[in-house]
Amino acid sequence: MRLRSLLFVPGDRPERMEKALGLGADALILDLEDSVSLEKKAEARGAVAAFLARPGRPVTLFVRINPLDGGMAADDLAAVLPGRPDGIVLPKAEGAASLRGLDALLGASDARILPIATETPAAMFRLGEYGGVTERLIGLTWGAEDLPAAIGARSAREADGRYTEPYKLARSLTLFGAAAAGVAPIETVYPDFRDLDGLARYAADAARDGFTGMMAIHPAQVAVINAAFTPSDADIAHARAVVAAFAASPGAGALSLDGRMIDAPHLKQAERLLGML
Ligand code: COA
Ligand code: MG
Repeated sequence: MRLRSLLFVPGDRPERMEKALGLGADALILDLEDSVSLEKKAEARGAVAAFLARPGRPVTLFVRINPLDGGMAADDLAAVLPGRPDGIVLPKAEGAASLRGLDALLGASDARILPIATETPAAMFRLGEYGGVTERLIGLTWGAEDLPAAIGARSAREADGRYTEPYKLARSLTLFGAAAAGVAPIETVYPDFRDLDGLARYAADAARDGFTGMMAIHPAQVAVINAAFTPSDADIAHARAVVAAFAASPGAGALSLDGRMIDAPHLKQAERLLGML
């Protein structure tokens, strides 16, 4: 499952869901949680169920349900599972227990699970627990909107827009937690959707750091995100050169390529990049 861009669409906006199919996003996240008001939850469940039932599925479809402990998740799942979503995005996830809880609720469905793993203070202490629980786990992502509200922070950002230390930690632990669990680290949304230059810089940093995809909130963000998480021709050529250098020197540990030392981790990076193609 290719997951460079995952575009959120509010579950109570059927016309936007239909339009979102043709925007180039690798996946849509049909939202039943924060972008849908309490009064509209039932209507949104119906709209998402109807959308899942439409013939043909050109892109991967996730549904973001409400948190497991909020009294709404069971109704969300009852409404959407008959439509066979490809995956469920789990907000306010708190480690292995949440994964097990959702896994049990999914029953015979083959839906994968993408937890949003940094939205509560307790979740921050559980980022190392996601591996080895269920084959459904497909990635790990994080959020910087709910955590500051939960701990009483006035903002998650510096005046220039960069995250403050607590949220850099949340981002880093998500990256390590996903890698430790052997699943895809997915970068969080870039809320300022008119600032495409800022998004391009942010997504490039994410790709550099090891994230393999990112969530989007607006159609204009999709192409920028896809580009950032697609290896460049130069990256591919370099990776091929690294692999070729080791193939040409069987048994060698360290080699030189273009005047630089390459050894086991460089080969691993190169193989990983070529594996993404
Ligand atoms: N999915 C599909 N289409 C979308 C879209 C989305 N997430 N966001 C905007 N569009 C469409 C609009 O329908 C509009 O289409 P039109 O030109 O045919 O009328 C076009 O893109 C331009 O929209 P624009 O006017 O720039 O945005 P807006 O002010 O109407 O909406 C948001 C801005 C942020 C409310 C909207 O992008 C949105 O709902 N995003 C998702 C929010 C969400 O799910 N949040 C939860 C996770 S953080
Ligand atoms: Mg939220």
